[in-house]
Amino acid sequence: MKIAVLPGDGIGPEIVAQAVKVLKALNLNLEMTEAPIGGAGYEAAGDPLPDATLQLAKDADAVLLGAVGDWKYDKLERHLRPERGLLRIRKELNLFANLRPALLYPELAGASTLKPEVVSGLDIMIVRELTGDIYFGQPRGISTLENGEREGVNTMRYSESEIRRIGRVAFEIAMKRNKKICSVDKANVLEATELWRQVMIELSAEYPEVELTHMYVDNAAMQLIRAPKQFDVMVTGNIFGDILSDEASMLTGSIGMLPSASLDANNKGMYEPSHGSAPDIAGKNIANPLATILSAAMMLRYTFNDEANALKIENAVKKALAQGYRTADIATEGCKQVGCSEMGDAVVASL
Ligand code: IPM
Ligand code: MG
Repeated sequence: MKIAVLPGDGIGPEIVAQAVKVLKALNLNLEMTEAPIGGAGYEAAGDPLPDATLQLAKDADAVLLGAVGDWKYDKLERHLRPERGLLRIRKELNLFANLRPALLYPELAGASTLKPEVVSGLDIMIVRELTGDIYFGQPRGISTLENGEREGVNTMRYSESEIRRIGRVAFEIAMKRNKKICSVDKANVLEATELWRQVMIELSAEYPEVELTHMYVDNAAMQLIRAPKQFDVMVTGNIFGDILSDEASMLTGSIGMLPSASLDANNKGMYEPSHGSAPDIAGKNIANPLATILSAAMMLRYTFNDEANALKIENAVKKALAQGYRTADIATEGCKQVGCSEMGDAVVASL
């Protein structure tokens, strides 16, 4: 089983090192090869997604990614910026289905900014479309109008087939869970998402057991804070999913806990924490590696069909938390506060 390991920027290298440590401790037959992406790709080859990195990712069965981005690259031309490397690899590998589970570990109920009774038992799966929408729609750009004023343009567009294939992923996941989907759109204003709603309704005819509801994105943002446990599977487009998944992560105590899987039609996948590169804390050994370690568990589950070892990792994380180990972002009184690599060690010890 070939894994392309792309640590990226900021805290990427430290958190990925912990996930690699955990994977190695399982003694599976994994061939892991590292390559640069994002700012690291730009430094190494003048490109946030160097050809060699893309080729390695294409040849691999799965990709384990840290995070990309650093303020020091913000002044580069747009196509050279780290985020472009991430968006391109998603597009090139056709990773249209982004799964972001927001699961509250009971030990962390006190770490959420919401009241424990609002979040305890929380288990939401956000299914975010990842290769379409306003992120990729043409036309786009900044140009100068005839009157000399500048104008910025992005285009929200979704084709029927793009909506249907992400909808299908969500319905299949719902069938394995509580058979409830909430589709999030802005159908009262945006035609692209009016079509989204229509296609979801058409698709639901194939899944009579699944209860499909719809919610406008503004209301969904509110409901996630008001009563998050009403949700099971949420399916939404690229930009709404980007925003709502950050919001959902805070219900679980810290964005440092949220893993993700980005899958193509054949379950080849890229696995990365949902959080960013956090350059402000990079290199200090204080980042939370659990989202990345849990992403490695998702890799075993979705790409390698190895549910047993995925559960082993997830249970090891639970055990480390139950033993009181906490990184700074989830620290509470009386815990054993540890650094990034010590948290990795705690998970390995629990394995
Ligand atoms: C995410 C990130 C990315 C996105 C950025 C870094 C381009 O926020 O994975 O959620 O917007 O998709
Ligand atoms: Mg985001």
